[in-house]
Amino acid sequence: MLIADRLKQIRLRTEQQLDSLIPEADSIEPSLQQAMRYGLFNGGKRIRPALVYLACELSGGTPEQADKAAAAIECIHSYSLIHDDLPAMDNDDLRRGKPTCHIAFDEATAILAGDALLTFAFELLSQADPHIQPTQQLQMIRCLSKASGERGMVLGQAFDLAHVGQALTLEQLQAMHSHKTGALIVAALELGALAAGSTDPHKLEHLRQFGQKMGLAFQIKDDLLDIEGDTETLGKPQGSDQLQNKPTYPALLGLEGARERLKQLHHESIALLEPYGEPAQALIDLADYIVNRNH
Ligand code: IPE
Ligand code: IPE
Ligand code: MG
Ligand code: MG
Ligand code: MG
Repeated sequence: MLIADRLKQIRLRTEQQLDSLIPEADSIEPSLQQAMRYGLFNGGKRIRPALVYLACELSGGTPEQADKAAAAIECIHSYSLIHDDLPAMDNDDLRRGKPTCHIAFDEATAILAGDALLTFAFELLSQADPHIQPTQQLQMIRCLSKASGERGMVLGQAFDLAHVGQALTLEQLQAMHSHKTGALIVAALELGALAAGSTDPHKLEHLRQFGQKMGLAFQIKDDLLDIEGDTETLGKPQGSDQLQNKPTYPALLGLEGARERLKQLHHESIALLEPYGEPAQALIDLADYIVNRNH
């Protein structure tokens, strides 16, 4: 199956899951749930769920085993975007082609919707699941919480905001990207393997290393798209990084240097999966998609 078709299938599966897990329901304050659903159902590419499903498959698991982890990581990702767009952070008004959550609702509701998506991810992972053993669930909760918090994505975001307008070394930039974006990409792959009950330490380590390189590549591509893309295709404001003087790969290495680094990481990441042959092809295709995407 072509990776575009596979991604579409995964997108639909993830969205069905999320829709049934967070149904539109009456509550004492409907705006909270409306804002959560607004942040979730607005045309995301669902790359992290795709990594969960494909890593689970490569590790011998079934889609049913990957469902909860795929939904949980997308909740964390969507929360991170809602908060990333807030005036106190990147102050952006467009996300996935629509007004950002704090514009469509208000700042307080956007903050709370992010908080609720974050906590819901862990409620999901800890729910009884006939496809997953409780010990696996514990490992998965630990994996996702570490990757999301003060040693992962949140730390990367803190570093990003603390260094606006400052010149970083390449080492600092790499550490920032590895935390703010790479950590969740690595976690998606690990969650897929854990959901499958994978016990092969070599495969897990290869998946992790693939994720580290792909995660970095993912954010470099995002930085490049901020310059080379257009607002309509991106669904978010083109030029936002430059406008805010953000530390990015193109800002440090120039366009050519950033493109070169992206190409290098792409090749290195694929080389890590080649020993697994045909079963790893879908992940290799996903890596190609990540570095060649236009949004
Ligand atoms: C955007 O992530 C933010 C980054 C971590 C670079 P995506 O490009 O995966 O955004 P969506 O989910 O498809 O909108
Ligand atoms: C955000 O990076 C990474 C997150 C953890 C949300 P960016 O700030 O570059 O993401 P976009 O470009 O707004 O999607
Ligand atoms: Mg940001
Ligand atoms: Mg941003
Ligand atoms: Mg960006």
